[in-house]
Amino acid sequence: MQIKIEDISHSGSGVGKIDGKVIFVPHTDIGEIVEIKNVKKGSKFDKAEAANVLTPSKDRCVPSCPYFSICGGCDFQFVNYERELKLKELILKNELKKVNFFEKIDIFPSKNRFFYRNKIKLSYFEGKLGYYSADKNFVEVEYCPLAEKEIDYAIKVVKEYLKVYKYQNLKSVTFRKTDEIILISFLFSKKEKLKYSKLLDNFIVATFIGDILESDKTKLFERFNFKGTYKTILNEKIPADFNSFFQVNDEVAENLYRFVLNYCKNKKIINAYSGQGALSLLISKESQKVVGIEIQKSAHLIAEKIKKDNMKNINGAVEQELPKLLQKENFDLIVLDPAREGCKNSVIEAIKSAKIKEILYISCNFSTLVRDLKSLNNLYYIKNVSLFDMFPNTANMEVCVTLSLKKE
Ligand SMILES: C[S@@+](CC[C@H](N)C(=O)[O-])C[C@H]1O[C@@H](n2cnc3c(N)ncnc32)[C@H](O)[C@@H]1O
Repeated sequence: MQIKIEDISHSGSGVGKIDGKVIFVPHTDIGEIVEIKNVKKGSKFDKAEAANVLTPSKDRCVPSCPYFSICGGCDFQFVNYERELKLKELILKNELKKVNFFEKIDIFPSKNRFFYRNKIKLSYFEGKLGYYSADKNFVEVEYCPLAEKEIDYAIKVVKEYLKVYKYQNLKSVTFRKTDEIILISFLFSKKEKLKYSKLLDNFIVATFIGDILESDKTKLFERFNFKGTYKTILNEKIPADFNSFFQVNDEVAENLYRFVLNYCKNKKIINAYSGQGALSLLISKESQKVVGIEIQKSAHLIAEKIKKDNMKNINGAVEQELPKLLQKENFDLIVLDPAREGCKNSVIEAIKSAKIKEILYISCNFSTLVRDLKSLNNLYYIKNVSLFDMFPNTANMEVCVTLSLKKE
């Protein structure tokens, strides 16, 4: 069966129609006519694979990764980088129509399309490390070309190690590159009788028990060889730990932070969802005052270590702490940088009732961003939208939106 790809979905798949019903075909470009196979019928839409591209887009290229299209990770390796950016812009434009934004979007590309990730998480399955595909099939990988090159070597070492130590309850291994070293975290679902061999002696390893690494509920079990390490962002050394949050693409993160700094000059600011305080620290140099709010205790403690005189850190949930803070003090700007879930409605309502003049919203999930922008729409207008290509080859993007209070 043949179809013509007419649009792009928010998850990066080509979109066509058969007898009026929408069908999503990953790894196809707008304008291409493709032969499809393995059609999976759904109640509202179907999904299929491209068996043969009959009229290839002029921007098609040969994916350089052997796992492309099977590991479930990348969406755009089949086109050149220019086209990838164009497709991302289109995806974002389609989403922003929902909040009546039709203006130009500023694009900040990534200098590196490959080898940019300072952190990757590989799942563990029957002695192997890899990723789960969209169909939940385990795909073993020897390396990942999105990861910074030093991480490849650490993967090799851990794979050798796992041949000797066959864990029952290991869920995943996370590799994180800091200024000096690679931090390796083993995440277990239950207590294991952990034994470390000589193989990992030269690495910094910690073991955790829980569901996700970056959570206070996940308990540190043991740490080896860790004497402290840093990540440098715009010349500031930020202490890093196994479970701290850092943007995954250092170069793009610096561009994003520069953009935010420019916006913050001389203002009194709330930095909600502030992590270990990297952004607060940078903002504090240019602004009158910054108050960070962060739920994760370990991140809050790092923020306390690096704080300057015009910084304050609150450890708690934004939905609880923000209304209290806004009752006591006035602020010029709130910077929101939530996790993928976006902001709770109570957070949006607190901002609206305090009528904070300006909002700068950083989002790694444009679906929840658009949901929150809809709730702000009656009181705020969008001044500018910028797309920071933090995650090349994937349909994820970091979006920064600035908003101002409408005049009454
Ligand atoms: C995307 S990270 C942003 C970190 C920081 N802005 C930076 O650039 O380093 C989101 C942060 O929000 C925190 N977080 C998640 N839910 C929260 C909540 N309800 N209240 C406060 N912080 C929360 C997470 O622990 C995480 O550190």
